[in-house]
Amino acid sequence: MKIKNICCIGAGYVGGPTMAVIAQKCPNINVTVVDLNEARITAWNNPDFEKLPVYEPGLDEVVKEARGRNLFFSTDVDKAIEEAEMIFISVNTPTKMYGAGKGMAADLKYIELCARQIARVAKSDKIVVEKSTLPVRTAEAIKSILDNTGNGVNFQILSNPEFLAEGTAVTDLHNPDRVLIGGNNAEAIQSLVEVYAHWVAKDKILTTNVWSSELSKLTANAFLAQRVSSINAISELCEKTEADVNEVAKAIGMDSRIGSKFLKASVGFGGSCFQKDILNLVYIAKSYGLNEVADYWEQVVIMNDHQKHRFSKNIVQTLYNTVSGKRIAMLGWAFKKDTNDTRESAAITVAQDLIAEQAKVVVYDPKVSENQIKFDLEQDHDNEIIEVGTNPYEVCKKAHAIAILTEWDEFKTYDWQKIYDSMSKPAFVFDGRNLLDKQKMKEIGFVYSAVGS
Ligand code: UDX
Ligand code: ADP
Repeated sequence: MKIKNICCIGAGYVGGPTMAVIAQKCPNINVTVVDLNEARITAWNNPDFEKLPVYEPGLDEVVKEARGRNLFFSTDVDKAIEEAEMIFISVNTPTKMYGAGKGMAADLKYIELCARQIARVAKSDKIVVEKSTLPVRTAEAIKSILDNTGNGVNFQILSNPEFLAEGTAVTDLHNPDRVLIGGNNAEAIQSLVEVYAHWVAKDKILTTNVWSSELSKLTANAFLAQRVSSINAISELCEKTEADVNEVAKAIGMDSRIGSKFLKASVGFGGSCFQKDILNLVYIAKSYGLNEVADYWEQVVIMNDHQKHRFSKNIVQTLYNTVSGKRIAMLGWAFKKDTNDTRESAAITVAQDLIAEQAKVVVYDPKVSENQIKFDLEQDHDNEIIEVGTNPYEVCKKAHAIAILTEWDEFKTYDWQKIYDSMSKPAFVFDGRNLLDKQKMKEIGFVYSAVGS
């Protein structure tokens, strides 16, 4: 089937950037991104390209090129479904917080609602593409809903997991290591291959059966997260010995079998995918009675939780076992640099721990709004305990300690002498990202410590 109209349900961190790039690279295909969330669609249509709902370097340029030409954002879900030959499902699949599989399994209610809506509306054959991260065998469930509640039209289901990382979404989409397409129907697979072939070399477009594709996505995220937990486990050992985790990471990373990427010790991984996908993998393994497999992967999440709490505990202990009433400046709230996404950010856990110890927490992040930070903490807007600033120098003024939670490049460019002069003494810095120059910070006079060194 030659694709002329694509619809994507879900205008979030995955759907928005992915569809913007497809539209940019395939000017002959109309791409309509739909969402129930009106405010989000309005923001995607904002004439000011700096105010798109998702912050990603380079995304404004892509949207500028395609929006209004062949890229559209709308709340009219039915119309977009009806007109499209190919429908991407890119809605959120959070960890289920109720019933069976609570805290582990993926909540598929949004996916099911989408499938039912597609079945109700579709009056011609459609290719339905799973873009959200889903448990293995979800495609089968979608197919069953579509076939049993539809209007007798033909549905083909493909799995096309997204591997983009936030903060580098546009470059990842422009130059993917691979595009993975899982399916059981050669013609449907070919239709999607042709979309990507507009800009991705054919040898990077991998086709598999549906279940391999679904499982590959979970496995890739589990392996990546495992690397972070592995180096974070070593970071704690480094802190007890004279070893420096950066030196260890460099030394092992030069072994080509290990590789140098994803070995940065940190305050813990965050983001919407890693924890959710591992817990999902754990749940699936358990449901097949594979307890050793489940326990093995669950340890990656346990280690990550430990790393986050260990960071806040260290702050409290170092500040003479009490932070009550002390001003602690947190630099960074996003789960990594170059994104405004805060889902599962380590900063949230650390702030909660410090607030529980009655610290006065003051936060600065270059891209995250005050509303979002307060929402993440489920705080009243007028709550006194947490303050959000827009000027990092003001935020750090009179602070007893600074905690660095996100590796924003701008933190490296600050006048740290000026910050030191404005702080309460002794002036502590807890660098959760190994971002700053240890030697220089110590020379200025800071009591500086970084994760794993
Ligand atoms: C991840 C996968 O990389 C991507 O392929 C998938 O499609 C979605 O999930 P993302 O969560 O956006 O992407 O960001 P990623 O760069 O993987 O970082 C995840 C977390 O791990 C961040 O909190 C990051 O700071 C942390 N991290 C990463 C480390 O602490 N150390 C590292 O060496 C690398
Ligand atoms: P992701 O990081 O996977 O892109 P997000 O939460 O950023 O996740 O985006 C998912 C989007 O999907 C949200 O904007 C949400 O409003 C939208 N969504 C969820 N269910 C539906 C639905 N049935 N129809 C349309 N949009 C939906």
